[in-house]
Amino acid sequence: MTDRRREEVLIRIEHAGGLATGVSNDVHAETGVPEADVYGVATFYSLLKHPSEIRVCQGLSCHLAGSGEKIDAMSATDTPFLAAACLGRCDEAPASWDPQGENPLPEVHLTAASDELAINLAGVDSLSYEGLAAAQDNGADWVIGELEESGVTGRGGAGFPAHIKWRGVANQPVTERYVVLNADEGEPGTFKDREVILKRPHLVVEGLAIAAQALGANDIYCYVRGEFGAVRDTLEAAMEDATTAGALDTATTWHFVDGHGAYICGEETALLESLEGRRGMPRMKPPFPVEAGFRGAPTLIQNVETIATIPSILTRGGAWFRDLGRTEPGTKLYCVSGHVQRPGVYEAPMGISMAELIDMAGGVVGTLKAFSPGGASSGFLPASMINVALDFGSLQKVGSMLGSAGVVVLNDTVDMAEAALVQAVFFEDESCGQCAPCRIGTQLVRQAIERFRRGDSDALEHIAEIAPGMEQGSICGLGQAASLPLLSAMKYFPNEFESSVHT
Ligand SMILES: Cc1cc2nc3c(=O)[nH]c(=O)nc-3n(C[C@H](O)[C@H](O)[C@H](O)COP(=O)(O)O)c2cc1C
Ligand code: SF4
Repeated sequence: MTDRRREEVLIRIEHAGGLATGVSNDVHAETGVPEADVYGVATFYSLLKHPSEIRVCQGLSCHLAGSGEKIDAMSATDTPFLAAACLGRCDEAPASWDPQGENPLPEVHLTAASDELAINLAGVDSLSYEGLAAAQDNGADWVIGELEESGVTGRGGAGFPAHIKWRGVANQPVTERYVVLNADEGEPGTFKDREVILKRPHLVVEGLAIAAQALGANDIYCYVRGEFGAVRDTLEAAMEDATTAGALDTATTWHFVDGHGAYICGEETALLESLEGRRGMPRMKPPFPVEAGFRGAPTLIQNVETIATIPSILTRGGAWFRDLGRTEPGTKLYCVSGHVQRPGVYEAPMGISMAELIDMAGGVVGTLKAFSPGGASSGFLPASMINVALDFGSLQKVGSMLGSAGVVVLNDTVDMAEAALVQAVFFEDESCGQCAPCRIGTQLVRQAIERFRRGDSDALEHIAEIAPGMEQGSICGLGQAASLPLLSAMKYFPNEFESSVHT
């Protein structure tokens, strides 16, 4: 059995339509991977384990829009369904998704087209590939220098400077190198990467081609969220168009891989594990992927939005991009959902205030009470912080994070203990389970909130003691941030946690 054959395991099960009777044995026969191993890996993934059930989203934005009632209504019918963590359709909450259906996405609200936006979702996609041509003419040092000048940081959540990763791969002595696109967008409240690919696929294809060319990678892997079939097709079609138009180097091999329904595979090393045909469990770091990533080789993993900024950085200059931002470099795609008039994806200068962003989304439905600025992991901030700058540094200073900029707006009808419970359920469901503090801690947090809401006023007493253990004893960001929604809700809305008035 070679590692390459293991890589086929998940793809073969997907092609067989999921883990039906006999499939694990067939895949064992085809790949040589032991059947127990095949079965054990596949059961980690929701789309392989339950390939046909309709999913009803129970993410925060969908919860605010009445997904609970939707789930109750579905339960009253004979239709089998699953409550899903987040379907990445927060703009059409309460969302559902049918693995066997068409699932068209509605037109999302976007910022009006403008040349002063780095991504410009409403703009016209083009096959000119001028950024790639400039990269070919000027070489890798120039490309990385422009990225450094631009100050662009990772848009997938961590905000890590892109040029450091690129240089990290470029400096490795090994010639086998990979570029991986992280399009597994799964953070609740986030639905921007899907729109980047649907609206501007050539920016993504060109950005990836620039990365492969500059870093000497022969293979590009695009790992696209499994529930986003049309998104993956759009990206693949754009790559084929660009190839036909002669814009791409034919020496590069493109691979399009479907995610299999596990949020944690958005974490970069879990994604690599999944690409290698294993359970999506994050790896210990170091070594970081730039040194030992896919197949143990130097690998650049970059979020869709980050990659899509590269062509305009090279054609218009790093300084141009940097100056677009207010408090930090560049523009940023903010996903806005929850209690706003026009949920959508808005591109704005990095550091726009929450107040301005709410205006872009048409204002609050009702009276603002709280907001979650960057996905479930960012916790909650109160309405009084409406002027906070939405950037990495400012949000970190107030104990939150920009993350993937999935902004969820909550009005004064929301019970904060209930909102914290929604996030706690998400983290418990999506924990990969390999770190005890995360596996047990996420369960304890969820149980404590439930006990509190059932009338046990002391139920949350020990949460502040559990949280540091989760933060320090967890390998990845999921376990490290999982207690934040509850702790931040308790901090900013203490009255709601004084006595358990909930039923
Ligand atoms: C629990 C968890 C989930 C994540 N999910 C995503 C995701 O869905 N998409 C993404 O691009 N990055 C996600 N990330 C961040 C990635 O690990 C990684 O930082 C990113 O892909 C690097 O690309 P960037 O530097 O362009 O942001 C996640 C991280 C954690 C800890
Ligand atoms: S922190 Fe949680 S999700 Fe992350 S590796 Fe550990 S158990 Fe898995």
